[in-house]
Amino acid sequence: MALQVEDLRVYYQTLRGDVKALDGATFGISDREIMGLAGESGCGKSTLGRSLILLQAPMKYVEGKVWLDDELLPVHDGESMVPFRFKKVAMIPQYAMNALNPTRKVGRMIGEVLQSRGVRPRSVQAEIRRRLDLVELSPEVLAMYPIELSGGMKQRLVIVISTLLNPSLLVADEVTSALDVSTQRAVGRMLVEFRDRGFVRSMIVITHDLSVLYQVADTILIMYAGKLAEKAATETIIRSPLHPYTQLLISSLPEAGGRFPERKLAGIPGSPPPLLDPPAGCRFRERCPVAFARCQEEPPFVEVEPGHRVACWRVGTRHA
Ligand SMILES: Nc1ncnc2c1ncn2[C@@H]1O[C@H](COP(=O)(O)OP(=O)(O)OP(=O)(O)O)[C@@H](O)[C@H]1O
Ligand code: SF4
Ligand SMILES: [Mg+2]
Repeated sequence: MALQVEDLRVYYQTLRGDVKALDGATFGISDREIMGLAGESGCGKSTLGRSLILLQAPMKYVEGKVWLDDELLPVHDGESMVPFRFKKVAMIPQYAMNALNPTRKVGRMIGEVLQSRGVRPRSVQAEIRRRLDLVELSPEVLAMYPIELSGGMKQRLVIVISTLLNPSLLVADEVTSALDVSTQRAVGRMLVEFRDRGFVRSMIVITHDLSVLYQVADTILIMYAGKLAEKAATETIIRSPLHPYTQLLISSLPEAGGRFPERKLAGIPGSPPPLLDPPAGCRFRERCPVAFARCQEEPPFVEVEPGHRVACWRVGTRHA
């Protein structure tokens, strides 16, 4: 198992109390697995991604353990994470391509990033060029300012930079959003190729867009209101989901069961509970068409068949 996360809880401290954005996540990612992470806006996807890399205020580590390649990751302590970040765990944050420093030429910016991690830029110069070539970027981009690059070029560049040191885990947060469909596909292909070439061992690809996950992900993890709802192989999530929330998400897609060229996770009636003071029990209860008395208790995230986990009292013989 490349990544193992056990009961991870990360909240946001606010004046009104703790926002329970990631409230007890337990899951694993295998070597070479690309796991898609999906769910409605605000369900905690970015929080989960960030909590594996860098906890920044007002984020607060509450509890939980994370292992990467059988080594305990000190996610609770920003300082202790320094040797791991970029080298073993890398993240492309949401909106990263818009955050490229506009006053630095690309080559200089890459040099600064590498130096800040104690890597001599010269030692990876040839590799940078090889990888730029691989994603069809000319070495001339190194002498350009970010503003001179298109969105697709910037996004490919960000992926090259973040995987330069061959991290074990890459968390890519909405890297295809805001790109046109053909560019999305190219970026998706690039993610898969980087995994295939071993530039990164496993990945978490966060997106609202199921078509992207259908293209790149081996497995999909669905989150709901700070909790994990379901994880299974991509085909299983798309064709035969078991959690009522996943089922509603999939059935709300106009081309359910088919291909998803441009479909995004559509909304379903109602809204998720407030994460500042979430109700006890299943957090999907208020919107769930098949809720029953037992749903007042929190359902565990259990394996109902090999590689398929679901948190629902209606699913699985042991809990029905
Ligand atoms: N700095 C913050 N302070 C307080 N609450 C926050 C903060 N950042 C996020 N949250 C809350 O935490 C929850 C999870 O946010 P998160 O950004 O992880 O969601 P997301 O699934 O990535 O959403 P999106 O799809 O819109 O990117 C949301 O309810 C959000 O309002
Ligand atoms: S545990 Fe209950 S409320 Fe939650 S999804 Fe299952 S049936 Fe619906
Ligand atoms: Mg997000």
